[in-house]
Amino acid sequence: MTADNNTQGMPLNPKTSALIRTGIVEQLADGQFCSGEALGALFNVSRSAISKHIKQLSDLGLDIYSVTGKGYRLARPLALLSKTRIQALQRKAQDEQLAVVNVIDSTNQYIKDRQGQLSKGFACLAEAQTAGRGRHGRAWFSPFGASLYLSMYWPFAGGYQAIGGLSLMAGVAVCRALQAFGVHDAKLKWPNDVYIQHKKLAGILIEVEGQLGASCDCIIGIGLNVMLPSSLTSSDIGQPFIDLFTVLQTSPDRNKLAALLLDELIEALELFEREGLRPFLAAWREADVYANQAIKLLMGQQTIEGICRGVNESGALLLETNTGLRAFQGGEISVRSA
Ligand code: BTN
Repeated sequence: MTADNNTQGMPLNPKTSALIRTGIVEQLADGQFCSGEALGALFNVSRSAISKHIKQLSDLGLDIYSVTGKGYRLARPLALLSKTRIQALQRKAQDEQLAVVNVIDSTNQYIKDRQGQLSKGFACLAEAQTAGRGRHGRAWFSPFGASLYLSMYWPFAGGYQAIGGLSLMAGVAVCRALQAFGVHDAKLKWPNDVYIQHKKLAGILIEVEGQLGASCDCIIGIGLNVMLPSSLTSSDIGQPFIDLFTVLQTSPDRNKLAALLLDELIEALELFEREGLRPFLAAWREADVYANQAIKLLMGQQTIEGICRGVNESGALLLETNTGLRAFQGGEISVRSA
């Protein structure tokens, strides 16, 4: 018997197996124990098949305990993402503009694969990513139900010339959503990492496709830590991180936060499309985590040190060096405190 057979030993198709795993998470969501036998009866599969599904869910980063004689339980209760609830909480939602999926390689990839069929503002949210992408070609750790993984599609008729500063705008939109959620101390590290208490709360990856001189398609991908597994350490992630559970000391409502992020992103993108980065500069400068501090820029093998003097009108980072004020734009630049 495998996780992909029913109690009669009949093979289940992968879609049915995925539905069973979703069903198991729904059963466990309240944080109470549920036995393997009860779960097996509910989904018409054996206890050993259930234990294999549980193993697959654990491999996706879901914190599940197993206690002999009692069954399975989540480390913490979990409210699953719900398209209906998110759209009910949005200022104005359109049914066909949102996809909420369980497990996916990457929400950015979901958009990329469907680009030609999507309209402006379409968004995808997932419970887990198996190949989440970060900036600088890094992976984005994406355990099940622990964060928000969100990507939005936005084409720009004006092409590459029209998107200068887009990544800074996206950081401001995330900070505004957090403020509306009751989190007031979020800061930005150039170009758009969201920090709280000097630890990373959220990252943004913007992927762009298009030819020079023509329109371009943008995918704005946001990963925001909500309730990461307690066993996770900074060395697992590669840098100090924080989640909203730690900030708020309570389980955050991910559906509410998703609705706020979608609303703020759409509003910001509409304004950015009309007026560019200018209306967002004051908010970005206000949130600048390194303003007037000693920093170093890492660019491949090269390191440049100086005092951070914020950003210029096009969103380039301004660094006061011993050879004068220099502006740095885009590309493979990482910012660190000196
Ligand atoms: C960073 O490195 O700071 C950017 C991380 C961006 C992660 C998000 S999660 C949703 C979307 N899908 C991906 O594969 N990546 C982005």
